[in-house]
Amino acid sequence: MKLYEKLEEIKKEAKEHIQLVKNLHSLNEAKSKYLGKKGSFSEIMKLMRDLPNDERPKFGQMTNEAKQTILAYIEEQREDIEKALVNEQLMNETVDVTMPGKDFVVGNSHLLTQIQEEIEDLFIGMGYQVMEGPEIEIDEYNFEKLNLPKDHPARDMQDTFYITEDTLLRTHTSPVQVRTMLDNVDKGPVKIICPGKVYRRDDDDATHSHQFMQIEALVVDTDTSMSDLKGTLLALAKKLFGEKREIRLRPSYFPFTEPSVEVDISCHNCNGKGCNICKGTGWIEILGAGMVNDNVLEASGYDSKKYQGFALGMGVERIAMLKYGINDIRAFYTNDIRFNKQFK
Ligand code: PHE
Repeated sequence: MKLYEKLEEIKKEAKEHIQLVKNLHSLNEAKSKYLGKKGSFSEIMKLMRDLPNDERPKFGQMTNEAKQTILAYIEEQREDIEKALVNEQLMNETVDVTMPGKDFVVGNSHLLTQIQEEIEDLFIGMGYQVMEGPEIEIDEYNFEKLNLPKDHPARDMQDTFYITEDTLLRTHTSPVQVRTMLDNVDKGPVKIICPGKVYRRDDDDATHSHQFMQIEALVVDTDTSMSDLKGTLLALAKKLFGEKREIRLRPSYFPFTEPSVEVDISCHNCNGKGCNICKGTGWIEILGAGMVNDNVLEASGYDSKKYQGFALGMGVERIAMLKYGINDIRAFYTNDIRFNKQFK
């Protein structure tokens, strides 16, 4: 009788024990404790010898059933543990979709670069090439070949940083035009724009900077006229300041162009009615232009009897300031990221 009780006891103990097991390792230990070779049942098997013969089969069967029951407890517990593991993993990996997102800061190009690219797009679309040149220039290309011989009074219009007597920081991007015409050995047509940094000896204030950006355009061909220049200027004004813009040309003077003009656009702020941006006139001056002076063509090897050209030049900062109502040119150079970010 003791043997039957022992069997029940093992079952009961195993059940209680197994239900408390919380991980697979301990579960395997429990399995060998109860069902292994040296487990609880091996002892019972030994004691079975003391049973009368006719009881042995029945007891043997009960033992087997007890083993099956314990195995079932173990498998049941194994399932529970595995389920709990999966749940835990899922909990740890859940994504809280209500959490605020991470703010990835995406940069943007500088406003001056944006305007430069906008202008380049327009001119490339009209068949121009973009040309660049050095910022340290020789006097000959910056001035002399542009009809500005040494001691010419118009040199005062562009106060210059000289490096030596003959080298300087370029005061405009016009020397790139000279270089392009000189490089053009077969003296064929030219159609270029020249963006870049230029330097002048100005005291920095809200509207002056000793370094700023220019974009100039040059067309040289055998049938270039003032009306081509006008059409180009109008396209430029509309591209930069909107389809409604009109232009007005006023006579002016530049040594490198003849005739020379100052170009006004109808005010984009008041549509020409008069406001504080156009100082009540309805017009805003945006750039200088003209027909290329014969002396300039000849100095770069072009026959001025056969070729004519037009040129225009604008300050990129000025255009940006007008377009976006920026009232201090220094804002472009002080690298305040908050300024830059406004022009995404
Ligand atoms: N190079 C001139 C300047 O910087 C601008 C300009 C270019 C004017 C072409 C007329 C024609 O002042």
